[in-house]
Amino acid sequence: MLTKMVDTSDEWIVQRTGIRERRIAVNQTTAELAITAAKHALADTGITAQEIDIIIACTATPDSYTPSIACRVQAELQAQRAVAFDLSAACSGFVYATDVVDSYFRAGKAKTALVVCAETLSRIVDYTDRTVCCLFGDGAGAAVYQWSETKDGILQTFMGADGSRGDALLATALPVEDPLEQSRNTEVDRFLHMNGKEVFRFAARTVPEAIDCVLKQAGVTIDEIDWIVPHQANLRIIDVICRRYGLAPEQVYVNLERYGNTSSASIPLCLDEMRRNGLLLAGQLIIFVGFGGGLTYGAVLIRI
Ligand code: UT7
Repeated sequence: MLTKMVDTSDEWIVQRTGIRERRIAVNQTTAELAITAAKHALADTGITAQEIDIIIACTATPDSYTPSIACRVQAELQAQRAVAFDLSAACSGFVYATDVVDSYFRAGKAKTALVVCAETLSRIVDYTDRTVCCLFGDGAGAAVYQWSETKDGILQTFMGADGSRGDALLATALPVEDPLEQSRNTEVDRFLHMNGKEVFRFAARTVPEAIDCVLKQAGVTIDEIDWIVPHQANLRIIDVICRRYGLAPEQVYVNLERYGNTSSASIPLCLDEMRRNGLLLAGQLIIFVGFGGGLTYGAVLIRI
């Protein structure tokens, strides 16, 4: 299909990115995807909506400026006790949200948290721009975190940002104009623009930095890690991680060939598949590592 829309080839896309398929949400809102993922996560854990203290929704593609996706989820779940807000960290959303949850837990402000990541990137992808349309897909994933007295759970987090490179991944919202002179016909460029090479270089530098940092802070070596679950953007970026740490491909979870880059949803989508396939076992040490728009990056070390 894409080869009919732009000057590209399956061979180019697979060789340069590793992506073979992507899912597109047709006539579905980001909130609908988020609500479905949240309901699945709650059903899987057996935790009720009334137990949730905090809902964080991560998205780069909200349906509205207000209410937030998190508030839509809160309403639908009837999670009356939960505070709810959206977090804007693009592809690093899940990692950033996990860091916020960790802070709430450590401050004693929450015991149960729902993180839901939902994206309808197809709404901001220009399907005449071959540099982005082959990469992105829609999707949603959610995770429930619960405070426990044990030393397991979220062990270390590290977040970073380099706003000076923000234009490398740009999707603008409202036009800038004199509000008193504003024209109802102002053309808005709603599409995502990316300097792929710059984001690639950023990822190749910051992903190892983030992993090294959580390992060092936790006093853990890479040999002790059972899984690395990276943001799914490009197989060549994942190869950088494997080569840097001498990891076997089996230690790094990859599913981008079927979903493309789903921004914040990519890590929870991986976790859901891993859980369903029996790959997540109690006691394992796992690193989530994300990077993307902002530009932002970060890593989390957890013991499940
Ligand atoms: O989620 C976080 C945000 N995004 C990312 O992490 C993306 C990071 N970057 C990347 O994954 C890669 O940079 C891309 C996959 C986006 C691009 O791969 P690249 O190897 O860096 O290619 P390039 O941008 O250097 O382009 C090489 C050539 C160019 O043609 P010329 O100028 O050499 O004639 C592009 O126009 O490939 C061309 N090209 C394509 N050709 C066929 C770019 N996209 C396509 C395409 N099909 N889809």
